[in-house]
Amino acid sequence: MTVAPVPAAAPSAYDRADWASAFRNVSQELSDVPVVASRGAIPTELSGSLYRNGPGRLERAGQWVHHPFDGDGMITALRFEAGGARLSNRFVRTEGWRAEEQAGRFLHRGVFGTPKPGGPLANAFDLRLKNIANTHVVRLGDQLLALWEASSPHALDPVSLETRGLTLLDGVLAPGEAFSAHPRFDPGHHGSPRMVTFGVKAGPRSTIRLMEFEAAGPDAGRLIADSRHAFPGFAFLHDFAITPNWAVFLRNAIDFNPLPYVLGLKGAAQCLKSRPGARGEYWLIPRRDGAFGGQPPRRLEAPEGFVFHHLNAWEDGGAVVIDSIVYADFPSVGPDQDFREVDFERIPEGLLERSRLDLATGRVTTTRLSERTCEFAMVPPARVGLESRHAWMAVAERERGNDPLQALMKLDLVSGEQRLWSAAPRGFVSEPVMVPRPGAAAEDDGWVLDLVWNGARCASDLVILEAATMREQAVLELPLAIPHGLHGSWVAA
Ligand code: CO
Repeated sequence: MTVAPVPAAAPSAYDRADWASAFRNVSQELSDVPVVASRGAIPTELSGSLYRNGPGRLERAGQWVHHPFDGDGMITALRFEAGGARLSNRFVRTEGWRAEEQAGRFLHRGVFGTPKPGGPLANAFDLRLKNIANTHVVRLGDQLLALWEASSPHALDPVSLETRGLTLLDGVLAPGEAFSAHPRFDPGHHGSPRMVTFGVKAGPRSTIRLMEFEAAGPDAGRLIADSRHAFPGFAFLHDFAITPNWAVFLRNAIDFNPLPYVLGLKGAAQCLKSRPGARGEYWLIPRRDGAFGGQPPRRLEAPEGFVFHHLNAWEDGGAVVIDSIVYADFPSVGPDQDFREVDFERIPEGLLERSRLDLATGRVTTTRLSERTCEFAMVPPARVGLESRHAWMAVAERERGNDPLQALMKLDLVSGEQRLWSAAPRGFVSEPVMVPRPGAAAEDDGWVLDLVWNGARCASDLVILEAATMREQAVLELPLAIPHGLHGSWVAA
């Protein structure tokens, strides 16, 4: 018997030093600096602001954060108008950032394992959280919200990026209450646009607070729906998805043993541990104004795997379909590892999978949508909660195998067709933001904006692609070096 040889995976084409060179401190804050396209031209119809959030401070007094997620939040804004662009950036003036700027060293423990100086004794029993406001930035009413899921949002001025301070959203939140960094923007399934979001109080039983805010018009920011639902088990919930009738959560099969955290040996997030072979659960909470409003939540067994981010969800007859980026296991940086030297080959890759949740039978069936390593995926804003033909995401350059994200992909979710734009070998992409063309007829008509780490320049480029074809429209070489970031959003002018 002969066995067909398995084709070897193509070798990776990147230089780890290029990827790691993005981990640095941001040393300047720019205000409305004009930037021009070094290649191509900025589309004149592109009118509005791209806001990005991510860690901007990764080292103090020679001590590096243990994980970049412990870096202080810094907002980057690019304003587009009439074919021109202006760049601003500001650190979020959190209480922790101010105090550490003054002290010149870390004063707080980081959730992802950064210790205070002084060893375990200095860290033990210090369970204060440093709200670093570094995960996402969205516009709600007359303010920007810099989000960090374990505590209150920070409010910022949308033009100057100045920090107004912690906000409880007109008394909606209790001080220190968890408020997700992953709101979903309902384009108008119940009339006007809404920001739907949640907060989790995790424990042996976990409570999800589901909130809906008016997102447009003079009442933007007003709370219009609010409910709390308790579920058995510890819930680590970073993201969720919405449909017109449901808020869809995936509770990963993860346990939390807080002892090493309490004793000062590990960060809180390092105490999350997956249970191999265990199944997570989908938790479906009816939205108040949907067809099942007021009914109890539904629980369905989930397939194996770990999920940070979902792409989108929608309803198909009696089923809810949800597309998620699934890892074989919970990826974490161990206590003795240096995040800049992570071996991509040895950590699980994220793969886009579709799960169909049959609400009548409770049966869940899952199919893979792409074999390419991916993260940070989105559908056109008007298709949030509905079936979408198109999605854009950050992917690896290689077709298979885990690597840093170096390319952007448009995926046809019906035909499977892929269109790519690549920054390889020296560029590294971030979360793409799809911006619809004003008045567009086709759902994929618009642009994709992306901050790319340019390893050759050791600085950041803003890349504008045509969303339908993924053809490059313009590259703006920014006078700023922005570390690998997290999430961001587009606000039309
Ligand atoms: Co996220």
